[in-house]
Amino acid sequence: MKDWLKALPKVELHLHIEGSLEPELMFALAERNGIALPYASVKEVRAAYDFSDLQSFLDLYYQGMAVLRTTDDFNDLAIDYFRRAQAEGVVHVELSFDPQAHLSRGIGFDVQIEGLTRAMRHAEREWGLSTALIMSFLRDKPAEDAMAVLEQAEPYLELIDAVGLDSAESGNPPSKFTEVFARAKALGLPRVAHAGEEGPASYISEALDVLDVCRIDHGVRCLEDQELVARLRETQIPLTVCPLSNVRLKVVERIQDHPLPALLDAGLKLTLNSDDPAYFGGGVLDNYLSCEQAFGWDKATFITMARNAIEVAFMDEGRRQVLL
Ligand code: ADE
Ligand code: ZN
Repeated sequence: MKDWLKALPKVELHLHIEGSLEPELMFALAERNGIALPYASVKEVRAAYDFSDLQSFLDLYYQGMAVLRTTDDFNDLAIDYFRRAQAEGVVHVELSFDPQAHLSRGIGFDVQIEGLTRAMRHAEREWGLSTALIMSFLRDKPAEDAMAVLEQAEPYLELIDAVGLDSAESGNPPSKFTEVFARAKALGLPRVAHAGEEGPASYISEALDVLDVCRIDHGVRCLEDQELVARLRETQIPLTVCPLSNVRLKVVERIQDHPLPALLDAGLKLTLNSDDPAYFGGGVLDNYLSCEQAFGWDKATFITMARNAIEVAFMDEGRRQVLL
């Protein structure tokens, strides 16, 4: 089954590129940029990745990305990820990035986007991957900051496939970003949002009602509201589920307790993704494998998950037909 899952053409819809920063590259970039890290070794970095919740992860995630300073750094980060992804049978990647987390450190929007898009073009040429770029807003920062980033992004809209919403969920409801998402919609940008990861099911409904999103990132807490479950089933709004992330951030205690089987039984459109592979113990393939081990799913179930992701990806129709 492992070889079969590896060979299955898989699509990654929920990937924070900053969360793909492996400790080895973190050290290499720290050295290149003359930055002192609060760790003595790669082993020490990995040992620090023992999270109690989303915030405890986010603290290290924002700290780690401080090694990213130049266009080459962003390029190298994404190339490193693409190389691993294609080796595990990923054929299309939608990478999110957090421009505000870099702007606040004095790293220009142009530096970020030029580095990432250079790597995307390389991955397309070198490995035949298709890629899309999602610009995420930090929900724990003021909505005005997100609006300012959106304005700054306007010269680059050709390079941006969608906008997203991430970071600390609790206490930061989707409605905080109503105007930002309305502006993104007016600019013709599709919208996605993290909702129902740590936050309540009502945040999922709000993201649909107020932000008009076409996909929900995580969404696992939808099961707390059966009306919402019925709505998600009827509309077939996809959930980008990240089981290993949910275990590592203590959304669930063990993979065996994950609500994926219940979400599947409810008839929802599900996809499997890695979220922050360098921090959560593996990429897309590891997420597929962990489901196989925990739930004993058959090939048909995995084929459905992989096809779901192809169906709802931000990719051109020719590419979609090739992959379907
Ligand atoms: N940013 C990076 N990973 C995230 C996650 N799992 N939830 C919210 N924001 C994030
Ligand atoms: Zn995420």
